[in-house]
Amino acid sequence: MEKFKMPKDFLWGSASAAYQVEGAYLEDGKGLTNWDKFVRIAGKTFKGTTGDRAVDHYYRYKEDVALMAEMGLKTYRFSISWARIIPDGNGEINEAGLKFYEDLIDECIKYGIEPMVTIYHWDLPQALEDEYCGWESPKIIDDFVKYATVLFDRFGQKVKYWITLNEQNIFTTLGWMSALHPPGKFDDAKTYYQVNHHAFMAHAKTVIEFKKRIPNGKIGASFAYSPSYAINCDPKNAMSKMEFDDLKNYWWMDIYGYGRYPKAAFRYLEKQGFAPQFAEGDEEILKEAASKVDFMGVNYYQTSVCEYNPIDGVTPYATMNTTGVKGSGQITGQPGLFKNPPNPYLETTDWDWTIDPSGLRYGCREITSRYNLPIVISENGLGAFDKKEEDGSIHDPYRIAYLKAHIEELKKAMDDGCEVLAYCTWSCTDLLSWLNGYQKRYGFIYVDRDEESGSMNRYKKDSYYWYKKVIESNGEVL
Ligand code: BG6
Repeated sequence: MEKFKMPKDFLWGSASAAYQVEGAYLEDGKGLTNWDKFVRIAGKTFKGTTGDRAVDHYYRYKEDVALMAEMGLKTYRFSISWARIIPDGNGEINEAGLKFYEDLIDECIKYGIEPMVTIYHWDLPQALEDEYCGWESPKIIDDFVKYATVLFDRFGQKVKYWITLNEQNIFTTLGWMSALHPPGKFDDAKTYYQVNHHAFMAHAKTVIEFKKRIPNGKIGASFAYSPSYAINCDPKNAMSKMEFDDLKNYWWMDIYGYGRYPKAAFRYLEKQGFAPQFAEGDEEILKEAASKVDFMGVNYYQTSVCEYNPIDGVTPYATMNTTGVKGSGQITGQPGLFKNPPNPYLETTDWDWTIDPSGLRYGCREITSRYNLPIVISENGLGAFDKKEEDGSIHDPYRIAYLKAHIEELKKAMDDGCEVLAYCTWSCTDLLSWLNGYQKRYGFIYVDRDEESGSMNRYKKDSYYWYKKVIESNGEVL
């Protein structure tokens, strides 16, 4: 057998999100978002950090894209802020907002970088929250499709790759179950599943609309996938893995991939009184969209271990490590079903995220077997403390080791037969980590700013030069 080689057109990329990089939160007619409001509630983010200025990408996008081009990036995944395009969510279109993204897209194309657009990466026009509680109302479905359609009509000829929703599982879980994201609701399971249903419908109708307008484009959702392992072969732990997968993974991926909810999880929620309500025609729309998606977008950071959790056991609500003090995060779980203890075989990051490169292969294999869809790795990366030396260099061998190990596993997955179209690291420049401030860095490019201030100057880390070689050699030199 010939040694595996990455396909010639493989998209080596990197990703970001509007709120985390742009700043300029009040500029050029942009409306306020749920995040602009949420970060101002005392105690919600690390040291009260906001994205008001973020890393100034709005003003420095040319410099950033030039650095990406020098690194050889084949694709840049970024998100569009709905409130820049339609400031109040469903009214007038703001030309200045469209112009900003058009310029960014053109800048990418100028260097041969394929723009990959995320339509929604968590920043919702606050006006929709005020008008009808945002995702809690089915009204958001048509407003979302209308917003997406504005983007398709304006950018559809220039942008081939589109992602409808970023990590629906995360923004809904943190928003309605643990109050860590806007709208900051706690333990509201009934609303949580209904909100998810609305988000699924927004995704589905957007996919259908997209295919009418841009039949040759590619579209999918990006899911925060945590592949799971049972802690051992005790049948009750094997069962806990099944419960975890149904409720935490397949609940989303089955809709994107098949257009239906996993049966046992739906039944469980029906018994609890939490199952979502369908409107007439929803079932058919979900199925139609699933038959039309082009890929499963995967944000991969870590795997989960599953163990039986007694009814009086741990809950989904626990302290999350947002400080970088190792060991300060707590175990979560679903009483009566599963809990997710640490994996004794694996190391963790300073923010207690399990480091498991082989989980990437495992997850790709699972998606391929279950859905037989191409895969876009839309995020993968290491959040770490970085130090800029006196001479402006940044030595981040830990990030290089992390990415190298993950790419090796990705290649194995592809050699196993998984069709992977793109690999986007998180992230290209350092950026705001929603709850963890600016000290949790992910980029190849160091941005000189901390929680309070900074020059915003850019510096190349060692990993920048390393990824350049990876791309140049199409993954041969790792
Ligand atoms: C994903 C998100 O959850 O992971 C990103 O799509 C996020 O927006 C990234 O920044 C890393 O998470 P965190 O919490 O470390 O910033």
